[in-house]
Amino acid sequence: MAAINIPRNVAIIAIADGTPPGNPNPVNALSAPVRQFLQTSLQNAFQDPAVVSIILIGRRDGRGVFSAGADIKEFSGENSSGNNKDCSSGNGGGSVTVSEPGGIPTLNDLGHLIENSTKPIIAALTGACLGGGMELALSAQYRVADSTLQYGLPEVKIGLIPGAGGTQRLSRLCGVRHALDVIVRGRINGTSQEGLRVGFLDGVAPTNESIVEYALRWAKWESSLPRITMESRRLCHRTVPIDGEGVGNGDMCDFAIQSLPPKEVGGESAHACVEAIRASFEKPSFDQGMEVEKNLFNDLLYHSLQGRAYRHIFFAERSSSSVRTKSSNSLIFGNGAIGVIGAGTMGRGIAISFLRAGYGPVTLVDVNPGGLQAGVQDIRLILEGEVKKKRLSSSKLKYILSCLESSTYLSSLAGCDLIVEAAFENLKVKKDIFSKLDSIVTKKDALLLSNTSTLDVDAIASSLSSERRGYCAGMHFFSPAHVMKLVEIVRGKATTSETLDIITAVTKRIKKVPVVVGNCDGFVGNRMIHPYTTESALLLVEYGGGKNGLGISGIDAALGPRRFGMAVGPFVMSDIAGNDIGYKIRGEKGLLRDPATGIVGPNRKQMRYTELADEMVEKLGRLGQKAKKGWYDYDPKVGKGRKPLPSSEMQSLVENYSMNSPSRGTKLSPDAIVSRILFALVNEGFKILEDGIASDPSKIDIIYLYGYGWPAWRGGPMFWADNYVGLPVLLRELETFHKMYPDSEYFRPSQLLRRCVELGVGVQEYYRKGLQQSAVLS
Ligand code: 3HC
Repeated sequence: MAAINIPRNVAIIAIADGTPPGNPNPVNALSAPVRQFLQTSLQNAFQDPAVVSIILIGRRDGRGVFSAGADIKEFSGENSSGNNKDCSSGNGGGSVTVSEPGGIPTLNDLGHLIENSTKPIIAALTGACLGGGMELALSAQYRVADSTLQYGLPEVKIGLIPGAGGTQRLSRLCGVRHALDVIVRGRINGTSQEGLRVGFLDGVAPTNESIVEYALRWAKWESSLPRITMESRRLCHRTVPIDGEGVGNGDMCDFAIQSLPPKEVGGESAHACVEAIRASFEKPSFDQGMEVEKNLFNDLLYHSLQGRAYRHIFFAERSSSSVRTKSSNSLIFGNGAIGVIGAGTMGRGIAISFLRAGYGPVTLVDVNPGGLQAGVQDIRLILEGEVKKKRLSSSKLKYILSCLESSTYLSSLAGCDLIVEAAFENLKVKKDIFSKLDSIVTKKDALLLSNTSTLDVDAIASSLSSERRGYCAGMHFFSPAHVMKLVEIVRGKATTSETLDIITAVTKRIKKVPVVVGNCDGFVGNRMIHPYTTESALLLVEYGGGKNGLGISGIDAALGPRRFGMAVGPFVMSDIAGNDIGYKIRGEKGLLRDPATGIVGPNRKQMRYTELADEMVEKLGRLGQKAKKGWYDYDPKVGKGRKPLPSSEMQSLVENYSMNSPSRGTKLSPDAIVSRILFALVNEGFKILEDGIASDPSKIDIIYLYGYGWPAWRGGPMFWADNYVGLPVLLRELETFHKMYPDSEYFRPSQLLRRCVELGVGVQEYYRKGLQQSAVLS
């Protein structure tokens, strides 16, 4: 790019210049040094008599992002054990709303400084312009952008509201309809075209002109206008416009509230967003509206556990996806030939995920020609559906489909860079495939991955020659793989760190959330789900029958979206996954009774066990949604065949099993149900940490959020245990349950939990302080 001549009468202030050297800030977060820098630069420009206008930009060369907003790390208390004290003493709130005399300016101070400038300030927007970044732009007298702009106010997603005037200025500039849309949904996908249409932007740079040149043209034009125009550019002096479609602003807020989850079920910040927007037109002055915004923001920042949970998830997800590899493997950059073995449901979803991300060719292999053809057909249908839903353009679909190849021969995968095996879940079958791949695949550094959900990754790798084992790992997708975001990357004994880094980068590239886990039965997610589903069925047998019994739906309701907040309760989840899967796993674990001989499986011993779920599958064929019957009945005419309907057959089965339970028909509160079932799950999480299967608690939280529908506002099972339950309570309750049910091993409290309670720390804090490195847990 040719150097641009910056006239002496224009000051360019680049946010990136405020970041101290050696302090990576890829998104121009508005940290304390950046705010200080902006204040000084603005004041210098105001005082310099030669300067007549100011351009506020992300980077001096006009590339990269404008700003992703306030530095979320400054909102102390997040990403930690969640000690509430941290929040009130931290400078997080201060960075936004409360300034200290002579101290670092807040974002609000900067907003006022910009808005009240007597020299016009043109915000030149590129890339991400989010949160506090967008709020600074809203304070400026003019906003121009290039086509890379991505604007939004996503604070609601981290449990906050815009706290630097966003709720007051956006509704004044673009109306309540757009403000609700952007702020309450926390959208971050506003484009320059949309910005122009709704009045957020004053202009968009033509494709042949850089944003710097374009902003300079605006500066030149502006400086030719009479100064009187400055006043009209200040949003604080405007009133909120009446909606173009004639709907009352108050009515729009009322409608918005109706579609929100209740405050206590994750909706605290969304409700506060609407309240703040309402203040923009109900309060008689801008300042009074700002006061409402400030109070709501501070209340959420200091007192909302939901908010801390959301922010915990934000950083946990990024830490899990972070790759610092120097590898130049082309897969990291989205190039490479992919093989997928098995054209069943998983294989299809996996192939779609790679195709959508631009990898190619993607070769789907299945020895069964009928299955292969059905797989290819299904992939086509799913992708065509995405075009109908406008998630994919027809031209991209055409290109994607041209990258899809299919074959009944493994030998077609010879030239692949990465192969995911998603064949039948059987060790012998998988070992056989991997030993064939060993001689077929030509590239010695090709990644050979298994989508197994339960089998031993080392046993699978053992069928490869030793020099290939470093490139072998598990890549466990969740069903349906083209929809679910989670991928557990299973580290085998021989898997190299570089292999793990490449798979992590590829997983991120295919827009999924990677979590590296150790190799054990069920890895992290399914290992923890075992006590969860087992205890659900046992609780059902104990309390489920009788007139006042909990019933299947009673347990699901306690855990489901309206109460605890899981996407679905345990029985609906099992029906979706297929009840035969759990049945098969119990068979492999040696727990089933032999139907022919009636002899109980060798590993059941004294274990607390119910055969209810076994009988349901074995004798009643109730495999779940796919069989139109499982724990519930399903009617293809009701809710697309996915709505769980009560089943009289299951009701009588529960009655039979619970007949002799002394607690039959006794009421149990939803909280008691939650404790019984989820404490068993969380305790397994602690044992997983003890065994080194997950490297820290936040990995478990991410797995449960993206793989099992855990509510984000509860921050994942380990965050929940630390912050919502409290570890001393958890330990005490587990001890009680273990005394009551000594034959349920999953209630035996983990050593790690005991240690945390002894030390008086949360499990997140225990890991953050590195205490696990010195601990010897017996
Ligand atoms: N503060 C601090 N760090 C941030 C940040 C922020 N606002 N936004 C992103 N980061 C960090 C990430 O943690 C990550 O760090 P790492 O490399 O050490 O893991 C790095 O920047 C890059 O982020 P991503 O991996 O997410 O990069 P992407 O390119 O995928 O996404 C993004 C970029 C769209 C900007 C995305 O990071 C994002 O959505 N950020 C959050 C934006 C946000 O919530 N802004 C509101 C902040 S609150 C606020 O402004 C309050 C105000 O109203 C008063």
